[in-house]
Amino acid sequence: MGTKIPQAMQACIPENMKPFIPETIEELKSYAVNHICPHYMSNADLERDPKVYVKSEGNYIYDVEGKKYLDSFASILTTMCGHNNTAIIEKIKAQFDILDFFPNFGDHYCIPMVALSKKLTEIAPEGLTSFFYVNSGSEANETAIKAAWAYQLESGFKNRTKIIHRRGSYHGTTVAVTAACGLPWFNEKYPTDSNMLEAPPCDCDHCQCDCSKCYGTCGMQCLKDTEELILKEGPETIAGFIMDPLPGSNSGYPIAPQEYMDGIRALCDKYGILLIFDEIQCGFGKSGEWFVANNYKVTPDLLTTSKALTNGYVPLGVVMMKQKIYDRFRTGTSEFRSGSTFGGHNVACAAAIATIDYIQENDLIAKSKALSDRMAAGLDKLQKEHPIILRHKHMGMMFSIELTSKKGEFVPFENPGAAGAFVNAWCYEKEGAIIRNNVYNNRDNVVYCPALTFSEEMIDKLLDALDKAFTAAEKEFDVKA
Ligand SMILES: Cc1ncc(COP(=O)(O)O)c(C=O)c1O
Repeated sequence: MGTKIPQAMQACIPENMKPFIPETIEELKSYAVNHICPHYMSNADLERDPKVYVKSEGNYIYDVEGKKYLDSFASILTTMCGHNNTAIIEKIKAQFDILDFFPNFGDHYCIPMVALSKKLTEIAPEGLTSFFYVNSGSEANETAIKAAWAYQLESGFKNRTKIIHRRGSYHGTTVAVTAACGLPWFNEKYPTDSNMLEAPPCDCDHCQCDCSKCYGTCGMQCLKDTEELILKEGPETIAGFIMDPLPGSNSGYPIAPQEYMDGIRALCDKYGILLIFDEIQCGFGKSGEWFVANNYKVTPDLLTTSKALTNGYVPLGVVMMKQKIYDRFRTGTSEFRSGSTFGGHNVACAAAIATIDYIQENDLIAKSKALSDRMAAGLDKLQKEHPIILRHKHMGMMFSIELTSKKGEFVPFENPGAAGAFVNAWCYEKEGAIIRNNVYNNRDNVVYCPALTFSEEMIDKLLDALDKAFTAAEKEFDVKA
């Protein structure tokens, strides 16, 4: 006995997969939970009803029960041009027929990566004219750190081995970036590397400096603390500074003032430290520009991106670097020793070019401003009606809403994390909308990032889902008006 997979969903399972798919939904889920270790697993989640997806359509995803969800977090910030985008998929298919795969080793290049490099030069912050291709965001950051070490070594600074990162930031799952993570949940179970130094973030709504002052009167204490860290450790021991210019969904998208970003650039220049922007999450059209570096008009020495680079269709990451960095590796035996079989796969490069073409041909970044404004106006209205909303903020299409248990001031919930999880579950289960919730320093927030291809109706549907979820959460958590 059990629940049969509905006919409409069965019809979406390819014939050669059907023999492996259990008859009932219960057996299917039980097999998945007991045999497939998910990424960043949560036993609490696995003990509830696990989810299995079968099909995508535009900005929607269908689960095995046949229920339809609005993909409002763009499949973790990747499918910014929507699912099943035939204009992109046709170009990917075409590449399979021309030259499917040949590795980029030694002195071997393929046409798609040459074309993609030229295309990226057009949209990247000025001066980032050399490229190294990998398979994921983690690998891109790992490679950027290796490039910073190698550049310093080849420039005669062999003692420059330390890397600065910031509290609250996530840079991926591989070993070096796990050590360079400012969120203990991700690395507390692993030995951390003492070469990684932690600087304060610039989060003016929740300042983590010891100054008890606000932006405007604090004299940029976070910059002063960062400089103090550099001087304490010795600038001659520091190779690079990795930062996400818009910190990720985990910490609720705190937006730094221009002064901070200019200050970090100046500090790196002053002390000979290479500045690495991790734009894996925030880059590629989500911020209202191609890159957050463009929003701030600050050019890092290296910039990494992935996720939306191929619209999430094929894994690809890239490290973009200033010409002086690649040139340093082009003399004698100073070669950059790093590489992987699939890095810069032809099909992935074709997917990236097709994604850029699609965004440009449809003017999606410029058009997303109206969607972003509509969402922000809707949130202003919700904030007036809902005491649970302490504040909301956004950059382009990346939105975060911070929750409180008392109107107008921050009063934490008795069990931090529960209110955000409730709102998330309500949107998912009752309203069919996928968002994300996080708890950071005891503060609950919900985040999302609609695709550039969302319609106005989809924006309104998401606002409506949030409205209902907040009403229910206010009741459930007895939020004081
Ligand atoms: C800011 C940031 N850096 C790096 C990564 C790691 O990318 P990937 O999961 O592709 O390895 C992520 C992933 O979410 C991210 O958000």
